[in-house]
This record gives sequence, structure tokens and C-alpha cells, in this order.
Amino acid sequence: MTPKTFKIKSFGCQMNVYDGERMAELLGAQGMSGAAEGDDADLVVLNTCHIREKAAEKAYSEVGRVQREDGSKPLIALAGCVAQAEGAEARRRSPLIDIVVGPQAYHRLPEMVAAAARGARPVDTDMPAISKFDAFPARRRANPSAFLTVQEGCDKFCTYCVVPYTRGAEISRPEGDILAEARALVDAGAREIVLLGQNVNAWADGGRGLADLIRALARIDGLERIRYTTSHPADMTDALVAAHGEVDKLMPYLHLPVQSGSNRVLKAMNRSHSAETYLAILEKVRAARPDIALSGDFIVGFPGETAEDFEATLRIVDAVGYAAAYSFKYSARPGTPAATMEDQIPRDVMDDRLRRLQERISVHQLAFNRSKIGVDTQVLIERRGRHDGQMIGRSPWLQSVHVETDAAPGDIVDVTLVAAGANSMAGVIRRKAAA
Ligand code: 5AD
Ligand code: SF4
Repeated sequence: MTPKTFKIKSFGCQMNVYDGERMAELLGAQGMSGAAEGDDADLVVLNTCHIREKAAEKAYSEVGRVQREDGSKPLIALAGCVAQAEGAEARRRSPLIDIVVGPQAYHRLPEMVAAAARGARPVDTDMPAISKFDAFPARRRANPSAFLTVQEGCDKFCTYCVVPYTRGAEISRPEGDILAEARALVDAGAREIVLLGQNVNAWADGGRGLADLIRALARIDGLERIRYTTSHPADMTDALVAAHGEVDKLMPYLHLPVQSGSNRVLKAMNRSHSAETYLAILEKVRAARPDIALSGDFIVGFPGETAEDFEATLRIVDAVGYAAAYSFKYSARPGTPAATMEDQIPRDVMDDRLRRLQERISVHQLAFNRSKIGVDTQVLIERRGRHDGQMIGRSPWLQSVHVETDAAPGDIVDVTLVAAGANSMAGVIRRKAAA
């Protein structure tokens, strides 16, 4: 039977969230509708992540959970990076899976669903030259802060990372397509656009780079804020640094993963920067935009990481003074060079290092938030808070701000920040900003 309702569950990065939205639009254009919260769906799409072992395992435990109490089950599509990495093997691990579709094959989802409804078991993990983006319908709905994927894939081959294998080589979408999608998102209510890419600052189109794209987007009326994520230090060009100082709509926030503070470890990771060159980039960014909030990613327990290497990581955290940072225990990924390196680090050592690193990061995060107490700024309202009259939005520095206001999602309000926690701020309205 052809499915009438669907549910899409996305895990992992923001690019998966974006793909999930686009798949929903694609299925909607086929006449299917999203199942209401709590209702059964005829088709469940699990949009999975393969970046760490725990994330990949979650995909299979989710497959088990979609069985209904009476033993029946919806059609199950395994999408995302686990689907890409495991292909047909996924169904040997879990025979409940009907469809296996990799991230570059989503344009084929409707025909695969139709085939599965007839009893076939389609698998597509090709990375074709034609772009899935061309098959997605025009954007009609948008959150106040909307994601827009501009680049996919990675050519950097960090030795721990599966992304070059799951998302393929770096490809950039054409500028004209991106601007058209951005305009449609703004017409649909977006006030902020977050440009996404595994290596977003490697975006290129006919000699134009991300800085040029940002300047072109900034000319769109009604678009008030631009962000981008995730960047690689190697592609942090002077033009992009300059844009941070010159383009008002580009928000003062930069996520620039460093992974480790030890040059020995950075070399083994095949990162193209050292601790020193990374800090030099940040110095340039700060010179262009002194109030910029910096964020990063860290891996603890990379094979061979000594206590001294780890101390260097703590030192770089102190040197940068991150406004936010994400840290992970190293997870050996099949097929990556680091998985077979000697001197894998014991779990308890990783646990201890992760705890110490996270403590250190939160000290800086709280200090950053406290430094903003008393500051007059603007907040883009995104959603309702926990109690009546409370709304939650974002400051320019990406802090989550709680405000008492009758403003609606999509409004930008003038706020004084009055209190700081490690993970959020409280603000009071000065007055509603002119739209
Ligand atoms: N183990 C642990 N963390 C990883 N990351 C990427 N691959 C691994 C891995 N094998 C982290 C990096 C990256 C973030 C998205 O996930 O810090 O920047
Ligand atoms: Fe996870 Fe990486 Fe795939 Fe995003 S691109 S879903 S982080 S494996």
C-alpha cells in the first residue's frame, strides 16, 4: 500500500536537519503528509549520523523502536550517513529496514518509497553528478532562523573522520541557486539564514568565495542576520575575515574547530594548522570584529594523546577564551586511518580528560556570558519559553536569551541583557525594534 503519512527523525548535524526539512517537502509534493506528533506514520525516515560510534548505534536502536505494539511496522527508510556508510549491509544488520538511501540520493526517495510499497527493497548510495537540490520543491515554510546548505562533503581527510567517506568530495552549490533559495526562505518568514556545509568556508563558485556569497546575501531585503557553520581553519581567507568587520548582517560568531592544542596530535590528525597558526587566524578575526564570540570543537583521547598533549589542549582553551565549545571522546571509525593507529587511549583516561576539558570550557562560557550583562542588544525571537509570556531567542553572539514579551517568533526586539548562566541569558525589553 502506498504510504499516506510520514515521519522524519533527524540525528547528527544541522545538515541532517536541513536534509530532513527538504525530504519532508519532497514527500509533501507527492501528496503525502507529515504524521501528527504521537501518531503512527506509514513511512518513517531515520536520518542518521555516523560521526561517532554512539551516534551510529542509535540508528539501529531507532529501527527497533518504530515497531508497533501489534507487531506491524511502517515502511522504514534508513537515510543519512549510516545509510551511506553501510549500504546494503544495513539490511543484513536489521531486516526491518525497507529502504536504504544515502545523502546524495534523496531526489530518488519518492520512487524508492513507491518501489518499497510494491514490496521491493531499494538501496541507493550513489553520489551522482546531478544534484539532489534540483529535485527539491521551492521553499514555502521557514523558521525565523533557517538553515541553507551551500556546500557538502570534505576533501580534508582528517585521520579520525568519516565525513569524506559518507558525504563525499567537496561540492558547492551554484550561487544563483543559493540566492534564490535564500529569497524564498525570507519570503516564507526567515529573518536569519545559517549557511551550512561540512566545510562551509571552502564554498566556491567560479572564483567567488564565501565572503562574496555573504555580501550578496546581505543585499536581500528582509534578511537581517547571516551565520555560517562549520569552518575549517585552512579555508579562513582574508576576504572572509574582512567580511566579519564590514558586513553588518554577518553575526559576530565564528565556529572554528581546532580539535587539539598539541601540534604533535594535530599532525597525526592531518589537520593542516598548528596551535600557533590557529591562534593567529583568530587574532585576525578579532582585529576585524573585536566582539566576536568564538566557538570550536575538541576531541580528547586521540590515539597517542599524552597527558602533556592534553595539557596543551587546556592551554589553547584558555588562550582563546571560547564563548562556547563542543568536546567529544575520540571514537574509532571503521575505514579511517586513526582507527588502526597504535596506542588507543583507555576509556577511563578519556572520561577523565573530557570531564576536565568540559569544566574548563564552561568556565570560559560563563565568563563570556557574564561579560554581556548590562549590554543593550537585539534578540531574534524564535519560540515560546516555558511559561506564559516568556519567549526565547538568540543574541548576535548566539546566546539563548529568555525574555518576557508579547513579541512573536520572527520579531527582533531591543533587549538589555540582565543575567547570565552557563547556557543562557535573561534579557528585558527596551522597546520593540523597528522591523
Ligand atoms: N571521534 C570523536 N569526535 C569526532 N569528531 C569527528 N570525528 C570524530 C571521531 N571519530 C568531532 C570533531 C568534529 C565534530 C563534528 O565531531 O570534533 O569537529
Ligand atoms: Fe553526522 Fe557527519 Fe553525517 Fe552530519 S555529516 S550526520 S555529523 S556523520
